[in-house]
Parts: sequence; C-alpha cells; structure tokens
Amino acid sequence: MLTRRAFTVTSLATLLGSRLHAQDDTIYDESKVPAYTLPPLLVDDAGRPLRAAADWGRRRVALLDTFAAQLYGRTPGGLPACTVTQVDRPVPVLDGRALRQQLRLDWLGRASVDVLVYRPAHERPVPVFIGLNYYGNHAVDPDPAILLNRRWMRASEPNAIVDHRATERSRGTTALRWPIDLVIARDCAVMTAYYGDFAPDDPSVVRDGIAPLADGLQDRIPVRERWGAIGMWAWGLSQMRAAASSVPGLDATRAIVIGHSRLGKAALWAGVQDEAFAMVVSNDSGCAGAALSRRIYGETIARITSSFPHWFCGNAASWANREAEMPVDQHQLLALVAPRVLHVASAIDDRWADPRGEFLATQSADEAWRFLGGTGLGPVTDMPTVDTPVGQRVRYHVRTGGHDINRYDWTQYVETVRSTLHK
Ligand code: GCU
Repeated sequence: MLTRRAFTVTSLATLLGSRLHAQDDTIYDESKVPAYTLPPLLVDDAGRPLRAAADWGRRRVALLDTFAAQLYGRTPGGLPACTVTQVDRPVPVLDGRALRQQLRLDWLGRASVDVLVYRPAHERPVPVFIGLNYYGNHAVDPDPAILLNRRWMRASEPNAIVDHRATERSRGTTALRWPIDLVIARDCAVMTAYYGDFAPDDPSVVRDGIAPLADGLQDRIPVRERWGAIGMWAWGLSQMRAAASSVPGLDATRAIVIGHSRLGKAALWAGVQDEAFAMVVSNDSGCAGAALSRRIYGETIARITSSFPHWFCGNAASWANREAEMPVDQHQLLALVAPRVLHVASAIDDRWADPRGEFLATQSADEAWRFLGGTGLGPVTDMPTVDTPVGQRVRYHVRTGGHDINRYDWTQYVETVRSTLHK
C-alpha cells in the first residue's frame, strides 16, 4: 500500500512537472517562515533616513545598481536600437472593432523579432499593454494569418510543440491568456512577441536570440555581473516600447509592461530600468519577482538559481540559502516603480510563488509612494481576501485558483488603467 502510494505521488509529480514540490523541504507553512528584517527603503548609502523627495533619485540609482550586480545582471550599454518594418497592413478583426497588425523588429540584420499588435479601430492613441508570450504570436489567437513561429520552444504537449518547434496545431493554444476582446472593449491596445525570439529559455540555446548583439560590449562588466535571460527579455520589452511610438493609434507615453510568472519577473525588471513605462504589471511573478526572498516560502533563491541559472547573473547563486544576508529584497524592486502605477497580482493556490510574500512586498514598497506624495495602496493594512482588489496607484489582487493569467486578472489590469491612465 505504502509503495503504491509513493508511486502515485511520484508519477503525479512527474506529470505536473516543476510546480509540485512535495518531495522536498519547501516551506508551505506560515509558522515555518523565519523571523526576518527587511533592508530599509528610504535611507541613503550611509543608512541615514532620506529627507526630501529629491533624495529618492540617488537612492533609486543605488538600488538599481545592486539588483543588477547581484541578481539580474547589467544591461550592456551601446546595444543597437531596432528598426521597425511592417509585415502586413492593419487588418480589421473582432467584427471591425479592432485592427490587427504584425511588425518586425530588426537589429542590424543580426537578430529579429516578430511583434503582434491589436488596437481599437479608431485613430485616437490609446494605452498599450506590452508583454511577451510563451509559445509564439500564433498561439495568442487562432487567426491563420498570424505568422507561425518556427524557432526553438520549450517542450509542451498542450501547446502542440513537437521537437521544440510549434506546429499548425499550436495556433490559438494560449488564447485564454490573451483576452484581446476585453482589452479592446476597454479602449486599450496589446503588443506582444515571443519571449524566445529575444532569448530562448534554456541554457543550451539561450544565446540564439539577441545575446550576440552584446558581444564586445560587456568587456568592462565583471563576468559575474553579466546579464541573463531575464535581462534580455526586459531589454526586449523596452525595445517594443520604443517601437510602439512609431505605430499609429498607440500612445507610447501610456505603455504598460505586463508579464506572467518568469515573464512577470522580466516585466518588473524592464519596468524599473525603463521609466518610460507608465505602469508595471506583475502577474504571479513569485521568487525573484514580487515575492519577498527572506520569507523562503515556496520557491527560494537556492531553488531558482539551480533550476534556472541562465535567467540570472553569476552572483545570484551566491545568495542561495543566504537570503537574510542579501543586500536587497524584492519590496525594494517594486518601490523602483514609484511614483508610476504598479499592479501586483497573486493566485491563492499558487503557493510556489508565495502570494502572501507578494502582498507583503507590495505593502512595504508602498512606503515609496507615500514618501513621493501619491496615493499608492492607500489604507490597506491586511492582505485582502480573494477576488477583492485594493489600492490606487499601487494595486494588488489575489485571485481564486492557481498559477495562470486569465480574464479575471486582465479585468483588474484594464480597470487600473482606466482609473489611473485614461484621459
Ligand atoms: C517555475 C519557476 C518559477 C517561474 C515559473 C513560470 O515554476 O520555478 O520561478 O515563475 O516556472 O515561469 O511559470
């Protein structure tokens, strides 16, 4: 009986892949979270409290520098800017309510990325959500006119990936994550690209995207501070934002960077480095995203840097099992969005991403909004109950269900745009 039970658990774990961690010592019990002290936010290099909002600029630079050197790596200076060409003319979709267009971003003929854009069918520029997708633009919608991405992809049966390549059956397989109709109905646009076009998500192929553009530009960057895939995805998001300014109907001054899970980590890193993003959305980004590392609840720095070493810079792994000594924690990353708009979302059953740790980081980060004189989270003292969004320029919600981005999440994001960015 015991053997049979053990067998069932093992096969389930294999089936569910990396999201079931019953076999290890992962902390999923609030009483096992160690006592911790978060590194302070509003102090200068000497540890003295910041006095005026003007002091924040220097503090901001210092925090960014530490996150770059210790976690995500440094974005190389001198990377080329993209050239934008039209792959097709805007085509009416959604019964004429929207226009769909494909663009190609190209860097000196050395790298290229296809971008899919949906915008309302009028000429007034609207806020634009900019986010990467996991399985190619063709997976966002079944529309056969969307180019089928034939580059390397992570294995996935539900997404009909065969030998690491998409197939005709892959079309539309991630459509539930991209409720285009909802975004259009709320007078916003969407711009998306396949994340693997920037950096394929595996150590063996990670250099097959834009990485070679940085060759020769990193000589002055210590090897252990050189960027990983999260840095490359983040740079890609900024390139997409820059491209948005040349697309009629998109208001690039109201660009919202959005990402789910590992791409939520990338969205945060893009949004804090590139202050031209007006709003930043983290959906279930978890460890090294919105969740506090010091809680060591769910995924830890040790686990993430051993499973996904190619996401980070070399220094990141040195913090494995030393979270309490890290010079920064993730509330400080979230604070770097201030005074712009931040929306952090969790899913209550997504314990691996530590929903409470994501809320607590957001709550601590709110200090920056208060300091700079805006209303961030407002009078929120406790983690809200499920499906009850809170906040103003800092918004937080925890949804019923597990690790995903769905229509409920997007409904909250377009509402945040309506209340903060719509003119
Ligand atoms: C894994 C990983 C997480 C990541 C997630 C995802 O579970 O451990 O850090 O966020 O994949 O991207 O779906």
